[in-house]
Amino acid sequence: MRNPQEPATASDHPTQHARPQSATLALVSATKRWAQLLSDWAIPDQILAMAATSPWEHAVATFEVANQPDRTLLSARVAREIVPPSGSVLDVGCGGGRAAMALVPPASHVIGVDADDGMLDAFATAARRLGASSETIFGTWPAVGAKTPPADVVVCHHVAYNVAAIKPFVAALTAHARVGVVVVLPVVHPMSCWNRAWEHFWKLERPIGPTSDDFVAVLDALGISAERWEMDRPDQSAPAGDLRARATDACRRLCLDPSRLDEVMEYLATAEPDWVRTDTVLRWTVPASRDTLASPSGD
Ligand SMILES: C[S@@+](CC[C@H](N)C(=O)[O-])C[C@H]1O[C@@H](n2cnc3c(N)ncnc32)[C@H](O)[C@@H]1O
Repeated sequence: MRNPQEPATASDHPTQHARPQSATLALVSATKRWAQLLSDWAIPDQILAMAATSPWEHAVATFEVANQPDRTLLSARVAREIVPPSGSVLDVGCGGGRAAMALVPPASHVIGVDADDGMLDAFATAARRLGASSETIFGTWPAVGAKTPPADVVVCHHVAYNVAAIKPFVAALTAHARVGVVVVLPVVHPMSCWNRAWEHFWKLERPIGPTSDDFVAVLDALGISAERWEMDRPDQSAPAGDLRARATDACRRLCLDPSRLDEVMEYLATAEPDWVRTDTVLRWTVPASRDTLASPSGD
């Protein structure tokens, strides 16, 4: 008997057709490429050791929903098209709920999953303000998938570049959707906006990839045929605030000691980061993609 901790094998799904070997190879290659390119973002240990706070963490305030969520974004419009009246939305890596709240109405129930407690509090507060019922699940996707209820529409905005094991992540998004999934990610890794500054302060060359094209290659290899759009990124990708506030944020992103604030302010005054201005929006429906996703390859 198989240890329940072990992943399922092809023989556990006797009703499924075997995937052609070329499709399996394409999947392994696309998922490996995604993971490899993400691993290139690791910050050298000796630099990380000098960081006062994690360069990867996000402030809750950055992702809070304004009094009125922005319903005009293309990502919100294409998601609302597939939310049934009084339907439900599952927002994975929800932050303060900007993705889900823009779908209320027609949605009347929102479920938020996030690995940060503060974000979940902000999500619940935003749902209450809009009169939607809500539930929140603390933890990392897809590990918390088993205790997360399905929803009509699953949304996942600005999370994919955090996820090395992309196949199980996407498979769990799809498995939780009754109607469809909408994923949004910047066209290139959002932290690439700091690459010139890394070169300036640390003489360190940083990567660019993966890109949203690499994510689409993973979807293609999974047999998911997604509709695709590009849209201007909302302004929050380039933090507002005075030069001092932006320099404080830059110190964190660049693992620089806050004692270098003046130097960073001077740098930023003439060298604005290359904010990523375009997002890719992807939408696919289920259950068309579910059968292919049950295949064991490409994790
Ligand atoms: C860049 S923020 C985006 C928040 C929100 N989706 C938005 O667009 O405003 C990424 C969020 O995803 C969460 N997150 C990242 N990886 C996650 C994972 N594997 N499982 C659950 N939450 C995750 C982070 O804690 C953070 O709140």
